[in-house]
Amino acid sequence: MNINSPIGFFDSGVGGLSVLSSFRKILPNEDIIYYGDLKNLPYGDKSQAQIIGFSKKILDFFEKKGVKAVVIACNTSSALAYESVKDHYGFKLYPVIQSCAKVISSMSVNRIGVFATQGTVTSGAYTRELTKYKPDLKVKEIACPHWVSIVEGLNSDINPEEDIKSKLEEMMEFSPDKIILGCTHYPYLLPVLTKFAPKELFINPADIFVDYIKSDLRVSGLLNPSASEGNENFYVSANPENFIEHSKIFYNIDKQVNLV
Ligand code: DGL
Repeated sequence: MNINSPIGFFDSGVGGLSVLSSFRKILPNEDIIYYGDLKNLPYGDKSQAQIIGFSKKILDFFEKKGVKAVVIACNTSSALAYESVKDHYGFKLYPVIQSCAKVISSMSVNRIGVFATQGTVTSGAYTRELTKYKPDLKVKEIACPHWVSIVEGLNSDINPEEDIKSKLEEMMEFSPDKIILGCTHYPYLLPVLTKFAPKELFINPADIFVDYIKSDLRVSGLLNPSASEGNENFYVSANPENFIEHSKIFYNIDKQVNLV
């Protein structure tokens, strides 16, 4: 492992590509390996033991690839698996929730809302991480089990706009100063969310996350000094065609997706 080694990204599916897309805008020269665990998605309704098992398998894969760091783009893995895996690997680990908590809690806010998957909400990870830095902060987490499928255009039995509006109404009763979109897919619902609430209310953690990763890589002496555009390789545990199809809303993949 050295400064020229690749950086791994992983998620249950295509959602982590939203983080990769933000990452590419500020670090275009890093080599990237992306892993989408389509065989096991969705992660949002799985048990903690399952999420730890999936995450370890993916991190073992990245270890064999000789990465210098892994970005845990998936909120659910960061919430349920990070604590169990963090000391087991010789590369840097960047979990989205833990990496963003300090910056978010330092904003001038007293009440924070979080929309996330059922697994993330049940874990209480956002509340735990945010209140580490600001113990008086009031946090309300609401699970939105349909939102991933809404973004991917898969739900036929619910009215997407009604579902989004009703979750937002429930959240607004808490009078949040800000609302974290705590799942990789949710920033893509901003066009609907902002029909009912101002854009400034929402936090897309990806922006804060990639700034954090860049500054930590720099401090750790791990930023790739190359001036040329980095390589990208994509791997999935199942359904490469499905991955390519659904990736289009998040990222432009112009190469073969490998099945592992
Ligand atoms: N990408 C996952 C997250 O950020 C959500 C998708 C899933 O449930 O698999 O939590």
